[in-house]
Amino acid sequence: MNKEQFLSKINQKEVVIGVIGMGYVGLPLALAFAKKGFATIGFDIDEKKIPLLNEGKTYIKHIAEKNIKEAVDSGKFSATSDFTKLSDVDAILIAVPTPLDHHREPDMSFVKNSAKTVQKYLRKGQLVVLESSTYPGTTEEILLPLFEEKGFKVGEDFYLAFSPEREDPNNPDYNTTTIPKVVGGMTDTCTEITCALYNQVIVKTVPVSTPRAAEATKLLENIYRAVNIALVNELKMVFDRMDINIWEVIEAAKTKPFGFHAFYPGPGLGGHCIPIDPFYLTWKAREYNISTKFIELAGEINTQMPYYVVSQAVDALNKHGKSVQGAKVLILGASYKKNIDDMRESPSLKLIEILREKGAEVDYNDPYVPKLPPTRKYNYDMSSVELTEENLQKYDLVLLSTDHDDYDSKFIKKNSKLIVDTRNFFNKVNN
Ligand SMILES: NC(=O)c1ccc[n+]([C@@H]2O[C@H](COP(=O)([O-])OP(=O)(O)OC[C@H]3O[C@@H](n4cnc5c(N)ncnc54)[C@H](O)[C@@H]3O)[C@@H](O)[C@H]2O)c1
Repeated sequence: MNKEQFLSKINQKEVVIGVIGMGYVGLPLALAFAKKGFATIGFDIDEKKIPLLNEGKTYIKHIAEKNIKEAVDSGKFSATSDFTKLSDVDAILIAVPTPLDHHREPDMSFVKNSAKTVQKYLRKGQLVVLESSTYPGTTEEILLPLFEEKGFKVGEDFYLAFSPEREDPNNPDYNTTTIPKVVGGMTDTCTEITCALYNQVIVKTVPVSTPRAAEATKLLENIYRAVNIALVNELKMVFDRMDINIWEVIEAAKTKPFGFHAFYPGPGLGGHCIPIDPFYLTWKAREYNISTKFIELAGEINTQMPYYVVSQAVDALNKHGKSVQGAKVLILGASYKKNIDDMRESPSLKLIEILREKGAEVDYNDPYVPKLPPTRKYNYDMSSVELTEENLQKYDLVLLSTDHDDYDSKFIKKNSKLIVDTRNFFNKVNN
């Protein structure tokens, strides 16, 4: 398929979409294409997910079953782990994980494995877009050579681009289709085709000159957040010592109509992006003999936060004549941010670890996480404790880690002996 044929097929909604990786990012993306009338196939190696999707069921709490069911019933969406079907699609969008390994270096195994699978089934005329967050150079250095090995020429025989995913799961204001999408193709034709495709489902595309620029854009966004969160976390510790309420200060600073964007302190960083992506750049920068000092410093401060929160908990217990050793502590909120069930890198898990090391008996409550799932680092056998009057009164300390909207602040406050609040949930300055 040449450029004109591809563009015309996009306009007629006749291109078939394949999304590799049916997770927090890939699933909503696939549903968005199906909703707009594109035949869409979701691919995943996790065979447990496939029948669930095909029966219209969800395994991600904030992605409504209704949306999956509608997509399946419309006949526009199906899921499979049969990768031979990749040759049936016109556009292959890759949204697989990019975590850090045990040495905190990029774990590119998921991207490499899916690129190899794509290589196997790639046919002339197909478009491949990598969406996973990664270091600048990935598309050019990992995907391109594999596809060229087949004797295909990029921009002519196949099209290749990087387009970072900016999904913010369960953000009430923005979803997959309303967040502008940055696109960097290997050639101008690759960029043009990729933009034309995303323009069908996404509010706006932002073309940049190369895949490397697109890869770097995503990292800039997440480094900006990691560094600014570290800054307010540091200021929280400084202001606490000075007996200044950081939340009050942020609210006041926010009234400046320009030049200030509010970030908030918390118990530490969580999620698949902010604690991880910056270190992809750190790793790549080493190849160029340059260090990323801001990223390292931000990482250091943010990693320290759970320890700081526990020291506050110890002080609070102490003031109540109670030692942390043997204290009963209830952590509110297990997921890394409010109103979702994503446990990846959640600081609540670290809080449990540190408190237990100090001899506390720790339970948790989370309306989104009935049971703590095993993660790469932790494997706790713990279930969410019900938030009843009687249960709350059993604890020497209630430690709020994640401020889910479901929490009834008055009820919790009334029934808790002692609260440490890492999110200013119980004491919003302007409430
Ligand atoms: N979760 C977010 O909020 C978010 C936001 C923006 C960007 N991202 C980026 O998007 C990418 C995907 O993240 P996610 O949160 O959707 O991850 P996820 O773990 O929720 O989903 C990834 C899916 O890919 C599947 N998978 C792994 N290897 C595969 C393979 N070889 N072939 C087919 N499927 C495979 C897994 O089984 C899983 O279902 C990451 O690079 C992440 O950094 C995530």
